[in-house]
Amino acid sequence: MKMVQWKSLVCIDNNHCFDLSKRGYMNLLSGSYRTMYDKRMFESRRAISRSGVYRPFYEAICDRITAEREVEREPTKVMDAGCGEGSHLHNIQQTIEQHTRNPLVAVGMDISKEGIHQAATEYPKAIWCVGDNANSPFADQSFDYLLNILSPANYAEFRRIMTDDGTVIKVIPGIDYLKELRGLLYDGTDKQLYAKDNKTLERFRAHFERVEAESIHYRLPLDKALIEPLIHMTPLSWGIEEERLQDIQGNNIGEITIDLTILFGKKSSRTSSY
Ligand SMILES: C[S@@+](CC[C@H](N)C(=O)[O-])C[C@H]1O[C@@H](n2cnc3c(N)ncnc32)[C@H](O)[C@@H]1O
Repeated sequence: MKMVQWKSLVCIDNNHCFDLSKRGYMNLLSGSYRTMYDKRMFESRRAISRSGVYRPFYEAICDRITAEREVEREPTKVMDAGCGEGSHLHNIQQTIEQHTRNPLVAVGMDISKEGIHQAATEYPKAIWCVGDNANSPFADQSFDYLLNILSPANYAEFRRIMTDDGTVIKVIPGIDYLKELRGLLYDGTDKQLYAKDNKTLERFRAHFERVEAESIHYRLPLDKALIEPLIHMTPLSWGIEEERLQDIQGNNIGEITIDLTILFGKKSSRTSSY
């Protein structure tokens, strides 16, 4: 699949053009896929994202993209692979567009139809599609930036659909990520602690060149009304009885810690001309 205009995709095998404007998104997945990520979880992620807790994290990603693309005249093509309900991509798109005149083509893909349905409903400016990171429907060298935020990756596919100058930006949780939530859900058990994830960094280094890691660590006040979406936005609450979750929702944690590591990697070791 190749992007020909900002709101159309064309299949390079049969030249069939898909107009995105009618449904707001396209299903490019062959077959159906069952997932634990449900409507409530995506709505909860959107509520937390809209509260502004991720703003410094968005800025770190946008600073990098705008600095690299400052002198570029061609539109910057960004894909969020495993975008969920689309808030991260939407915020990144908005922030970049505020800082540069260079047009941006933003594409979000997720294996969950529910996530993409919500993304297309809330954020009509981007292109949204249901698809699998392990078998991407996009043509070789389609994207300048590949975002992969707290989602499973497929590095061989990412390399294939990135331009030669392209950058992959993978985001993984640090050991303090949402530690107050883990304290609420798993107080006193070993699940309360996150283990440091060295394997992901090793795998990333094995696939990409000129790898850099940036740690984003901060605490922000969290309104009590956001405890409920916080609990339901992550797999951390899976397997805990609804009654216990209801009890936990009554707590006030006051603050929440965001601890994310952003990995930047280039497809090629060649220094770009930026
Ligand atoms: C923890 S959620 C993160 C979603 C979003 N990036 C965010 O941070 O809000 C993980 C996401 O990965 C998606 N996902 C899992 N396997 C996938 C695959 N093979 N291809 C595309 N998306 C996938 C899930 O549907 C889910 O939306």
